This record gives sequence, structure tokens and C-alpha cells, in this order.
Amino acid sequence: MTIADKAVLITGANRGIGRALVEEALRRGAKRVYAGTRQPLAHIDGRARSLTLDVTNTEQIQAAVKRVESLDVLINNAGIALYDNLTNLDAIGQHLAVNLFGMFNVTRAFLPLLKRSKGAIVNNLSLVALAGLPVIPAYSISKAAAFTMTQSLRALLAGQGVTVHAVVLGPIDTDMNRGFDIPKASPESAAQGIFDGLEKGEDDIFPDPASQSIAADWRTGAAKALERQFAGFVPETAATLG
Ligand SMILES: NC(=O)c1ccc[n+]([C@@H]2O[C@H](COP(=O)([O-])OP(=O)(O)OC[C@H]3O[C@@H](n4cnc5c(N)ncnc54)[C@H](OP(=O)(O)O)[C@@H]3O)[C@@H](O)[C@H]2O)c1
Repeated sequence: MTIADKAVLITGANRGIGRALVEEALRRGAKRVYAGTRQPLAHIDGRARSLTLDVTNTEQIQAAVKRVESLDVLINNAGIALYDNLTNLDAIGQHLAVNLFGMFNVTRAFLPLLKRSKGAIVNNLSLVALAGLPVIPAYSISKAAAFTMTQSLRALLAGQGVTVHAVVLGPIDTDMNRGFDIPKASPESAAQGIFDGLEKGEDDIFPDPASQSIAADWRTGAAKALERQFAGFVPETAATLG
């Protein structure tokens, strides 16, 4: 997989990591970059197209699909993170609506185009998917759920030529974690790491120094071995998604 001459769609593309992914895809020679945003986005590069796309809005998802001619890479980047302490169940629902169901519904809608191109799905997840961070437990729950979904989609779509990648992001310097006073990588370097991992064909992409520190252990660890073992249970006759 190379980004040059490919069509790439990025959700949550107006700021933070999503915005950096748009710029990096263009820098790598993408022929078309669809920037999914909740508000129309002006972009000077003629290869970019603004798509109105709230990932929780079914009508907007359907309208976006109609505007995309072909698609090689879908990057599910849109996400929310709110502080909570599990005293209010609504917080879990709020996070799941965007970080899990939004991701799933956008993926399902674009799957026919991705099957046609034998493309890739890239899900922006987090270190907190692997170990819950107790100051943002509802967010952690949603990212863990999205990680499990990513693993299942990877196995279910393997026979159809669509690859599914989990991005295990560490702290990145964006609006999302302004309140955390910890070392953070730049969104630009994270975007480069994400496309580098995709171009290398990595299932699980560790695009920044904090995530890279656990990459080797993750790839040789028990959880990864179990994932491979479980993928073997998918029958060849499984009903196909999309
Ligand atoms: N920053 C980090 O340290 C970090 C670490 C691990 C994982 N991540 C993940 O990386 C992704 C990007 O995060 P970020 O740091 O760039 O966050 P950010 O700066 O807060 O940007 C979040 C983006 O998601 C969009 N968004 C939120 N809800 C949406 C919805 N319902 N529909 C469509 N777009 C929506 C926002 O759009 P609006 O501008 O319209 O609100 C914005 O473009 C997220 O999935 C996040 O969980 C980030």
C-alpha cells in the first residue's frame, strides 16, 4: 500500500490529528483526499474535497458515500474524549456513539467502495484501549470496544482483500488532551507515523514515541497470539459484511 495516487477519506479532518493526516496524505501524493468534517472546510489544494460528515448522523453518512467516486483508504479518526469518573452512565453512551458506533457505521457505509479497490481501513485508537486510563474511563471503554471491533473486522474482511489497521496512539499535542501535562508528540509526526505503518502493512500501528515503547512487546505478546488464534475460527463460508 502506498498513498501516492490513492483516494483517502479522513473523518474529523478539520483539526488535530485529522487535519495533519489530510496534509500528510497530500504530501505523499494522494490523488484525492476527502476531508470529513462537521462544518464545511475550505482547502486550497485542488485534490482535497470537503465532505460534511458527522459520524453519528446516518443521513450525512449516506450523502457522503454518494459524493465519493472511489476509495482506497478510510481513516476513522473522529473522536471525543471527556473527563468522567463512571458516576454518570450517559458518559459511556456519549463516547460509544462517536468512538464505536460512529466508526462502525462509517466503515459499513464505505465498505462496498473499499472492497472494490481492495483498500484499507485505519482506525485511530489509543494506548488506553489496551489499559484503561481511570481519569477518562468512559473514553477508555469506547476505545477498547473499538479495538475489539477492529480485530474482528480484520479477520472478517481478510478474505475480501480489505486490510484493517489499528492505530495505537499515545499522547499527541491536540485540543483533546490540553489538560494533561505530559510529553506529547506533534500531530504532524503522528500523521507521518500512521502512513508509514500503513505503507509497511502493519496490522497495529504505533506512530509516536510513547506507543512505540510497547510495540515490540505487543507484537510478540499473548494478546496478539490469541488474536491470530481466534481469527482462525472464521469459517470460509461466513456471511460477508458490506
Ligand atoms: N490527542 C491524543 O493524545 C490522542 C491519543 C489517542 C488517541 N487519539 C485519537 O485520535 C483521534 C483524533 O484526536 P485529536 O487528538 O485530533 O482530537 P481533537 O483535536 O479533539 O479533534 C477531534 C476531531 O474529531 C471530530 N469529531 C468529534 N465528534 C465528531 C462527530 N460526531 N462526527 C465527526 N467528527 C467528530 C472533531 O470535529 P469538531 O471540530 O467538529 O469538534 C475534530 O475534528 C481521536 O479518535 C482520538 O480519540 C488522540
